[in-house]
Amino acid sequence: MSDIAILAIESSCDDTSAAVVLNGKVLSNVIASQQVHEAYGGVVPELASRAHQQNIVPVVDKALKDAGIDKHQLSAVAFTLGPGLIGSLLVGTSFAKGLALALDVPIITVNHMQAHVLAHFIDEPMPTFPFLCLTVSGGHTQIVLVKDYLDMEVVGESIDDAAGEAFDKTAKMLGLPYPGGPILDKQAQMGNPLAFTFAQPKAHRPFDFSFSGLKTSVLYFLQKQIALNPDFVQQNLADICASVQHTIVKILLDKLQKAAKHFQITQIAIAGGVSANSGLRNTLAEVGKKRAWAVFIPQFQYCTDNAGMIAITAHYLYLQQQFASQAVTPLARFAMLGSGRR
Ligand code: KG4
Ligand code: ZN
Repeated sequence: MSDIAILAIESSCDDTSAAVVLNGKVLSNVIASQQVHEAYGGVVPELASRAHQQNIVPVVDKALKDAGIDKHQLSAVAFTLGPGLIGSLLVGTSFAKGLALALDVPIITVNHMQAHVLAHFIDEPMPTFPFLCLTVSGGHTQIVLVKDYLDMEVVGESIDDAAGEAFDKTAKMLGLPYPGGPILDKQAQMGNPLAFTFAQPKAHRPFDFSFSGLKTSVLYFLQKQIALNPDFVQQNLADICASVQHTIVKILLDKLQKAAKHFQITQIAIAGGVSANSGLRNTLAEVGKKRAWAVFIPQFQYCTDNAGMIAITAHYLYLQQQFASQAVTPLARFAMLGSGRR
């Protein structure tokens, strides 16, 4: 059989990334993060699209060079079709379609959320099917029942904010710069997770999550404390961060344990940007030991948005000859394969 070499492009939010996969092995993974949003305290979609346009050629160039692959060796070009910011997705989609047309190779469209899950197949150790994956990112929080590479079902998800949003929004209330999640995590490592108690909002369905009530609970708590002591946040920053992080991790792990019990699955994975969180990683390791789970956590570079995960997903789609038409257009919302839900 001849080699399968795929160039993959990810441009769904504020990271421009390109990767090359050769016969299922990811050879390069180049990520250009966008600093332009920092001044605004959040991602500005129009600025993200423009930065993608500036980054895409050098990022693709470097991904090919790092992999030692010439563009004429490519078997296909893959890209994130959605979900994500439509203007950002359009940059990756248009570039990938144009390149594939010029090289006369097929295109492969990838669901970003499915790719976060399949990031577990980039490096050893890899989970075996079926397994449960808690995908926690800036836009989504899902428990996914993974039956095969391309057969997965969302069995629970957030009914309001995503876990990453809960981190970022509380960090913003505390005056931390964007993106707040990793900075809150750093502070939390120096604080007492049991110093303060916050609401743990309930979602109706057994494996669903809710985070918006937590945000309100933190807001009211801060307003009350600041009225008594204007320096409250500065004096207690580490303890507040540790307590917020503890609450978010507890909400996530309570539902994950429920789902594991219900589906009788002991292979447990986490994916998405929030899987870089130290509290989540440590608590998952502890709970995993107690419950005799086999726990899978991706390498840091494959937790946050990256094209390596798009590349590995594209490899499995290529094996099934699942190619897309040049007429395809990006999708801001995109339900996952095998799932009846968003
Ligand atoms: O998967 P991702 O890179 O992008 C999306 O698809 O959304 O996830 C980004 C999210 C952001 O909300 C960011 O604050 C959060 O992941 N994040 C973290 C950490 N690192 C990234 N949240 C908490 N602790 C971290 N260490
Ligand atoms: Zn993502």
